[in-house]
Amino acid sequence: MTAEDSPPPHGDPPIPVAIRVLTAADVPAVVALYESLDAHDGYLRFFAAPPRDISILVSKLTTVDRGHAAIGAFDSGQLIGVANLVRLDDPGTAEVALVVRHDHQLHGIGSALLARLVKTARDRGIHTLVAEVLLENSTMLKVIAETGLRTRRRREGSATHIEIELGGEPEPEAHGHNRTPSR
Ligand SMILES: CC(C)(COP(=O)(O)OP(=O)(O)OC[C@H]1O[C@@H](n2cnc3c(N)ncnc32)[C@H](O)[C@@H]1OP(=O)(O)O)[C@@H](O)C(=O)NCCC(=O)NCCS
Repeated sequence: MTAEDSPPPHGDPPIPVAIRVLTAADVPAVVALYESLDAHDGYLRFFAAPPRDISILVSKLTTVDRGHAAIGAFDSGQLIGVANLVRLDDPGTAEVALVVRHDHQLHGIGSALLARLVKTARDRGIHTLVAEVLLENSTMLKVIAETGLRTRRRREGSATHIEIELGGEPEPEAHGHNRTPSR
């Protein structure tokens, strides 16, 4: 792991959260994380119960190729969050999804993962990230809003289809949201 992979100090005691690209070697840890989700978090992530054979999905998501990228957050070596993108038919767009282990939520980890995924997407020439977020998922809606990036939204049944434009820099007033994970 490089210094670039670790979040900067926060002012608190040393922060054991590191963020790095996931690969095939991380499949067992990602499967374990998804399998540990409670019913509600699983529903928010998958809009249904997680797929029965989650390892097939995870193998695809962690494949490092033109169509996929996955980023993991680690606390003392344990995987506590995953953000991934899957390129869509328009190669300039990709769908994004996040999950943070329940006992690590609301500490800035999802925001840090999304920030890193935005950088990865830009590096790959992706100009728009698409997220399907359930209307009730106020935390994820805030995490997206707090990037400060321009979004287009439309309601689709019980979810919001959000297109996040990566072309511009975050608005200056969004600075407070590029926070360092607090654990
Ligand atoms: C949605 C999800 C990924 C967000 O991850 P998270 O780590 O909980 O989100 P963050 O902590 O970055 O941000 C959420 C809140 O924490 C606050 N926060 C951000 N950085 C913080 C920090 N360093 N310390 C304390 N709180 C912080 C944010 O302000 C926000 O609070 P607010 O609701 O008052 O605005 C996570 O809650 C999750 O896994 N949910 C279940 C699955 C899911 O919904 N996935 C999304 C499907 S697309």
